[in-house]
Amino acid sequence: MLKIGDVTFSSRLIMAPLSGISDLPFRMISRFFGCKFAFSEMISCRSLISRNKNTLEMLSTIPSDMPLGIQLLGNDSEYVSGAMELLNKYTFDIIDFNAACPVSKVTSRGEGASLLKEPRRLRKLLRVLVENTDVPVTVKIRSGWDNTCINAGEVALYAQDSGIKGLFIHGRTREQGYKGLVDYRVIREVKEAIGIPVIAGGDALSPQLIKKMFDETGCDGVAIARGSLGNPWIFDDTEEFLRSGVMPRRRCRDEIIATMIMHLNLCSDYHGEMTGVKLFRKFFVWYTKGFDNINPMREKAFRVKTKSQMMEIINELTATKTDVFDPAAAGPLPVKECISY
Ligand SMILES: Cc1cc2nc3c(=O)[nH]c(=O)nc-3n(C[C@H](O)[C@H](O)[C@H](O)COP(=O)(O)O)c2cc1C
Repeated sequence: MLKIGDVTFSSRLIMAPLSGISDLPFRMISRFFGCKFAFSEMISCRSLISRNKNTLEMLSTIPSDMPLGIQLLGNDSEYVSGAMELLNKYTFDIIDFNAACPVSKVTSRGEGASLLKEPRRLRKLLRVLVENTDVPVTVKIRSGWDNTCINAGEVALYAQDSGIKGLFIHGRTREQGYKGLVDYRVIREVKEAIGIPVIAGGDALSPQLIKKMFDETGCDGVAIARGSLGNPWIFDDTEEFLRSGVMPRRRCRDEIIATMIMHLNLCSDYHGEMTGVKLFRKFFVWYTKGFDNINPMREKAFRVKTKSQMMEIINELTATKTDVFDPAAAGPLPVKECISY
């Protein structure tokens, strides 16, 4: 169990926000396989205030998509309070503020991870959030800006001072992006320094690595990001592993195919056939990680436009007795395979 403010979650595993990925279909697939608390895609305060159509769509949800976290990106108090005014008309359980995004076009605007260099400013922005909502506010930070400035402990104390109820930390610096070793020691230091729940992230790619994160950092929860791409079973599998110490069986090709079809249908129903099929293409790649001789089919999947064409390719993935999917062996997905944000 995990408690953030007065909200209690039935699991300590959380689906991390994934820009360009964690739309409603992806969240529903993850929830189907045991995810109990998911985040929507990161939302820019500016785009929200200008009522950008795509941004407003990111707020779409359904009752079974709860509990749900919304994550905001910004660096200006007025925009933050304006965004909250609009957001308060929607239903969600947690509001998170992003001080972790490493992308240059974000940090050059003083947003995301660049706020790690300005802990007082971050505290001010978090106070604005806390004052403008009734739901618990959290922040997401990184271990620091680069290896000469590992200041997560200091940033966490400033953040806690604002009245937030929880802190997410990705154990890499902004400079590391998504590569290199995760710094478990810094996460543990942050956990020991503050009195609010700490949810850790970074290489949460398998039940074993997630257990390692709990064991080495003492964190209260773990945020799962790339580990769930093409592998929504990671939620159920990890719960099982943490409970019994036994690794759940590997998924066979038929189960993966059945999940792909379910995901494709959700994408197409929710986004409309053309957009849904286009968005599903990257999931085709992730679901088929580790499949033999898959490249020609992936190339085909990137060309098709209709659901029936995509179904034809999925149907070609006929079952074989030997071919199984091992998410742990698959390793982290290169970020270039993901949508950039
Ligand atoms: C494609 C992609 C999109 C992401 N989008 C967001 C985002 O919108 N907000 C956020 O806080 N983190 C975002 N992240 C970071 C993840 O939530 C997570 O912190 C990071 O990937 C580390 O976890 P992992 O090593 O287990 O993948 C994104 C990561 C990737 C790869």
